[in-house]
Amino acid sequence: MFRIAVLISGSGSDLQSVIDGVNSGYIKASIEAVISDNKDAYGIKRAEENGIPAYVFDKREYKEGVSELILSVIKDKVDLVVLAGFLSVLKGDILKEFRDRIINIHPSLIPAFCGKGMYGIKVHQKAVDYGVKVSGCTVHFVDEGTDTGPIIFQRTVPVYFDDTADILQKRILKEEHIALPEAVKLISEGKVVLKGRKTIVMD
Ligand code: GRF
Repeated sequence: MFRIAVLISGSGSDLQSVIDGVNSGYIKASIEAVISDNKDAYGIKRAEENGIPAYVFDKREYKEGVSELILSVIKDKVDLVVLAGFLSVLKGDILKEFRDRIINIHPSLIPAFCGKGMYGIKVHQKAVDYGVKVSGCTVHFVDEGTDTGPIIFQRTVPVYFDDTADILQKRILKEEHIALPEAVKLISEGKVVLKGRKTIVMD
């Protein structure tokens, strides 16, 4: 069985979309662990409600040690690491051990509105303020950078003149809950092939 770990920091609605995908049989995989760098993350409750082992390495307590602690939990135990609203930047051995096996979802069309410090509502505020006509979400592989790895999927939404950041965030989140489970499913089926900086997704 294809085994995954999901890393979170917040409410975990993206995590929930993966849990629902597994529970419905859409994704043939098992979620071996949910790991949070925030002890208050509601996503921990979502894991517990679904009988998934949850681990908490709060970044306020563990600081720079979070990446190593996560590696100690998942090394040799999972095939794919899914960052679902995970706000810490992974560094060190975990990136080597799981090279090309970590994916992230970002709430914009990378390379727009991404990079260091660009997360949550700030992303949508920038998009609204800039006056873009489309935005969306991106699922990508994680490399040493921030939001810089090869893109797997992007889903777009229209942006309207009177949109607020909050309205746009909600519109994009709906697309995230489609894109992330689909990406996990296709990777578990071996249908995403990395070609250097680009990917081929076979459907
Ligand atoms: C999502 O918008 C995701 O794109 C970003 O963080 C948010 C997580 O939301 N990385 P949730 O905690 O999954 O509800």
